Amino acid sequence: MESVGRLAGGVAHDFNNMLSVILGLADFIEEQLEPNSPMRGDLQEIKKAGQRSVELTRQLLAFARKQTVSPKVLNINATVEGLLKMLRRLIGEDIALVWAPAAALWSVRIDPTQVDQILANLCVNARDAIGGTGKLTIETGNVTLDAEYCAEHLEYVPGEYVLLAVSDDGCGMDEDILAKIFEPFFTTKGMGESTGLGLSTVYGIVRQNNGFINVYSEPGQGTTLKIYLPRHGGQALEELSESVPAADGAGRIILLVEDETALLQLNQRMLTSLGYTVLAASTPGEAIRLARESQGRIDLLLTDVVMPEMNGRELAAKLHSFLPTMKQVFMSGYTANVIAHHGVLDEGVYFLQKPFLKKDLAAKINAALAQPPQDPAA
Ligand SMILES: Nc1ncnc2c1ncn2[C@@H]1O[C@H](COP(=O)(O)OP(=O)(O)OP(=O)(O)O)[C@@H](O)[C@H]1O
Ligand SMILES: [Mg+2]
Repeated sequence: MESVGRLAGGVAHDFNNMLSVILGLADFIEEQLEPNSPMRGDLQEIKKAGQRSVELTRQLLAFARKQTVSPKVLNINATVEGLLKMLRRLIGEDIALVWAPAAALWSVRIDPTQVDQILANLCVNARDAIGGTGKLTIETGNVTLDAEYCAEHLEYVPGEYVLLAVSDDGCGMDEDILAKIFEPFFTTKGMGESTGLGLSTVYGIVRQNNGFINVYSEPGQGTTLKIYLPRHGGQALEELSESVPAADGAGRIILLVEDETALLQLNQRMLTSLGYTVLAASTPGEAIRLARESQGRIDLLLTDVVMPEMNGRELAAKLHSFLPTMKQVFMSGYTANVIAHHGVLDEGVYFLQKPFLKKDLAAKINAALAQPPQDPAA
C-alpha cells in the first residue's frame, strides 16, 4: 500500500505535467482548425486518449489516498441528483435507474468529486454485472451504528453515518471473487477493457473520509454495495453556482511560475489568450526578481507547488511580504503536504489539479481575483 502510494505520487507528478502539454496543445490546434477539417476526428481521438490517461492517474492517486481534495459540507442527495444525468448516460438505456433519496438526510463532509468517482465506478460495475436489461438502485439513508453492531464488524466505529447504497440485479459474485474485489488490479473482466482499479479506488476514497464499505452479493442474486460516511455536524451550504462570469483578463497582471518549460509556455499561451498580461518565470528566484521589478502591480500569482529551490507556498509567502494584496492560485499534479495536509486542502486555498483546461484555469483565476483582500500571513 505504502509503496504503491509512493509510486503513484511520483509517477503522477511527471505524468500529469506531460498530459497537460498533450491536452493543452490539442486544444490549441483544435481552435485553429477549419470547422470541417478532416483532422478533427484524429484530434478528438488524441483528446479522448489523453482524458482516459487523466482518469487512470486520478484513480491511482485516489486509491493511494494521494489525491488532493477539497472537502465540503454537503447533502449527498443534492450531489447525486446532479450526477443522475451523467450516470444514466453511463449505464445506457437498457438499465432502469431507480433513485431513492432519504428525507432529511444528514450532512457529510467530502469532496464532491469523490462522490462522482464513487458513483461512476459503482454504476459501471453494476452495468457490467447486468450485461443487458436490468435495474440499478441508488439509495441514501441516515444510519446509527451501535457498539453491538460494530463488535461484529471489525473496522466499524460506532456513530452516526450517512448511507449511500448502490444495488444491481446483475450476476452477483461468489465468495472467492468477493474476497478480492478491493485488491488493486483485481478484475474478472477481459484484458484491455478493465484495470481492476475501480473498487480499490472507491475503497481508498471511503477510508480517506473515515467511512466504511459493506458488500452483499450472491451468485445470480445481484449485488449491494453500502457506503457509510460519517455524519457532519454542520449544515450543508447552498451549492454555489458553478457559473463564473466570463474571464476578463484585460489590465490584470499574472505572475506565472512553473519549472517545466513546455508547461510554462503552454500556461502562458492560455493566460495570454484569456487577455491577461503574463510575467513568466521558470524558477522561484526569477519570480522574486520579476515581482520586485513590477512595482507592486501583480494581481495574482499562479505557481507550481513542487519546484526545486523553494516550494510554491514558500514563494507565495515571500512575495506577500512586499505584495500584500496579491492573490494566489497553486497548481500541481500531485500535492505534497505543502498546501494540503494528508491531501486535504487548507480552507481558502485556490488549487488547480493538473492537467486542467483553459476554462478551468479561467474559472479558478476569476474566483481567486474576486476574493476580498487576504490576511498576508495566511
Ligand atoms: N456489482 C457487481 N456485480 C458483480 N461483480 C462485481 C460488481 N462490482 C465488482 N464486481 C467484481 O469485482 C471485480 C473488481 O471490480 P473493480 O471495479 O475493482 O474492477 P473492474 O470493474 O474489473 O475494472 P475497472 O473498474 O478498473 O474498469 C470486477 O472485475 C467484478 O468481477
Ligand atoms: Mg469497475
